[in-house]
Amino acid sequence: MKNIKFYLIVALLVVSCKTVQETTQVVKSEAPIVDTREIQGGMWIPSLLEGVNENEMQLLGSKMTAEDIYSVNNSSLKDAIVHFNGGCTSEVISPNGLLLTNHHCGYGVIQSHSSVENDYLKDGFWAMSYEEELPNENFSVTFIKRIDDVTEAIFEGVNSDMDEAAKMKLINQNILKVSKAAQKEAWQDANVKSFYKGNQYLLFVTEEFKDVRLVGAPPTSIGKFGSDTDNWMWPRHTGDFSMFRIYADANNKPAEYSKDNVPYKPAHHLPISLDGVEEGDFTLVFGFPGRTNEYLPAVGIDQIVNVLNPAKIEVRENALKIVDEFMRNDNNIKIKYASKYASIANYWKKWIGENQGIEKSNAIQKKRELESEFSKIVAEKDLVGYKTLLSDFETLYKEIESVSLARDYWVEVVYRNVELLNITFSAFQLEQAFLKGGEEAFESRRKSLLNSYKGKFKNYSAKVDKPVFEKLVSLYAEKAPNEFMPSNMGNVNFSTLTNDIYANSKLTSLEGANELLTGTAEEVIKKLNGDKAYTFGKELHSIFYTKIEPKFQELNLQLAAVQKEYMKALMEVFPNKRFFPDANSTLRVTYGQVKGYAPKDGMRYGNTTYLKGVIEKFVPGDYEFDIPNKLKELYDSKDFGQYGDNGKMPVNFIGTNHTTGGNSGSPAIDAHGNLIGLNFDRVWEGTMSDMNYDPDICRNIMVDIRYVLFIVDKYAGAKNLIDEMTLVHPKK
Ligand code: ARG
Ligand code: ASP
Repeated sequence: MKNIKFYLIVALLVVSCKTVQETTQVVKSEAPIVDTREIQGGMWIPSLLEGVNENEMQLLGSKMTAEDIYSVNNSSLKDAIVHFNGGCTSEVISPNGLLLTNHHCGYGVIQSHSSVENDYLKDGFWAMSYEEELPNENFSVTFIKRIDDVTEAIFEGVNSDMDEAAKMKLINQNILKVSKAAQKEAWQDANVKSFYKGNQYLLFVTEEFKDVRLVGAPPTSIGKFGSDTDNWMWPRHTGDFSMFRIYADANNKPAEYSKDNVPYKPAHHLPISLDGVEEGDFTLVFGFPGRTNEYLPAVGIDQIVNVLNPAKIEVRENALKIVDEFMRNDNNIKIKYASKYASIANYWKKWIGENQGIEKSNAIQKKRELESEFSKIVAEKDLVGYKTLLSDFETLYKEIESVSLARDYWVEVVYRNVELLNITFSAFQLEQAFLKGGEEAFESRRKSLLNSYKGKFKNYSAKVDKPVFEKLVSLYAEKAPNEFMPSNMGNVNFSTLTNDIYANSKLTSLEGANELLTGTAEEVIKKLNGDKAYTFGKELHSIFYTKIEPKFQELNLQLAAVQKEYMKALMEVFPNKRFFPDANSTLRVTYGQVKGYAPKDGMRYGNTTYLKGVIEKFVPGDYEFDIPNKLKELYDSKDFGQYGDNGKMPVNFIGTNHTTGGNSGSPAIDAHGNLIGLNFDRVWEGTMSDMNYDPDICRNIMVDIRYVLFIVDKYAGAKNLIDEMTLVHPKK
């Protein structure tokens, strides 16, 4: 491990020296001249910024030290950064635990408090006092208290004579041991995560707060303005934010919900800059990026782009078309399906952009060139251990292709898009629990199943789901790999099959499902196996469990081993390149600058959009582009208060920060540590950044913080919230 760190440091030092020499672009008048493109991209570990990253950030204009960003002993920026229910990011923006995140991150919560009569999605919600804030069940936010390198302890006892399975087994045992032994307080947790494809391990000590209440959200017509048409697009005009508050017990410690809890006092909250941004300004995005694949071999990218993405895109496209039609015609269905639809549509569109970006930037070809250079050096230096890596990739990717494809069809059709099949899947797991664990396992599973069905059926409509079933199941039969096809898929009339299932299955309603699930374990299993939807689903799930998944796991384990070696090899073979660990839902820092871009020849995008653009896009009564009257009035009267910028109201801006899913809700921070924006998306041409970040066209999209404040203050009149924030003028 020492090795890796050593190479990393050498690599980074070389890069930063090199960039200082290669002078092309002026950053700041007093700063050295650097080609800033070379030091952007990457998602860095906050506890390891000292030295190279710190230096790069300062070259980009930052005035902060590594210690300002992450410190264990003193309060630092990291104390204001919060993992938002395991998915998004949020940040503390007041001494009273006020949290800012995206509207689309709070969406599920906002929806859960909404009904046709009291539609917070449509009308927005604002708590004008603590008493009005809305508590949430099964919801939490997590702080990172400390990060330690535990690589050596995790590799203890692991040696090259062991096969992959044995190595992983021992590593997992060590992980448990290390997490258990971690020094922490009683209310804290500890967990270990793998970095650089399993070449480095870090321990995270965390604090999880479970009493988190909804404080405010703009109407969807602001928070999701432009909806799916504008999603992943620039120029953008979305006020994608919502606010929450963390509550703690009387000692400021995590506690389950209680009306006696009090607003949490954070170690740090972000001051908010009212001075805005301009081209070239330093930006730091601090958050929890979910997953990237920056070190795939060409053959891996090729498979994603040419085999897996097209299949997933097609499935979703078909499902979305059907659901959209229902949502547009029925308000009740619109509310029920809003959240599900948004999440399905989101990646559908992302994959399309990703495929186009990979093709346009010639990413596969570039990877191949890198690989031939790699092979050349490996041959020259006779690095024996690395000689077969690329051919191993070729063989394994060929072997895994049909398995991955079958798996994606199962996930997309059965698990994600046909709700009835998803419902049969949880019932199938109940039967499995009984077969493996008897009555006891059955009972505990039944309890949680009844609970989860309650949630699922609240937003279910068989009328919508039925045509989705017919379309997607026939697609599955037609396109999923034959070797994994269940027998009940051959030679079927899908229209008859669908009618039969939806007319007879009890699993299309909560009452029916409850009825099926009542009785002794044997009775329930018998009833389930007499249900048409269940028996149909069961065949698909059985194949998934007995054929697809075991094969996938087996090959994936081998691929992971090659990928781990390859990661190490890349760092050794190319000591001058910058290597950051792929995103893995841990806390990361990414830095860059505010910057427009040229999406196409002869076309140049600016870095900021304004309220004027919202009005230009405004279509009264439209499903995606309507706005509230009040916003129009504020625009007409130019009533922007202290938030306007020379008579204009900034809405969104873009930068070169390397972000991904999970970074939504992350703060965009200026050179001094003040909040300037709220990250929420990336530009269409740059969504391939998950596999191939390119500083020329990859941009993250942020809400200008002044737009957030303007909406809170001028639109919603929630001055109480503005009053608790710390507003600053760093540029004046
Ligand atoms: N594309 C953004 C992200 O990946 C925002 C998604 C929410 N907005 C929407 N229209 N679905 O999460
Ligand atoms: N919109 C994404 C999120 O929800 C961010 C991204 O993928 O750029 O995390």
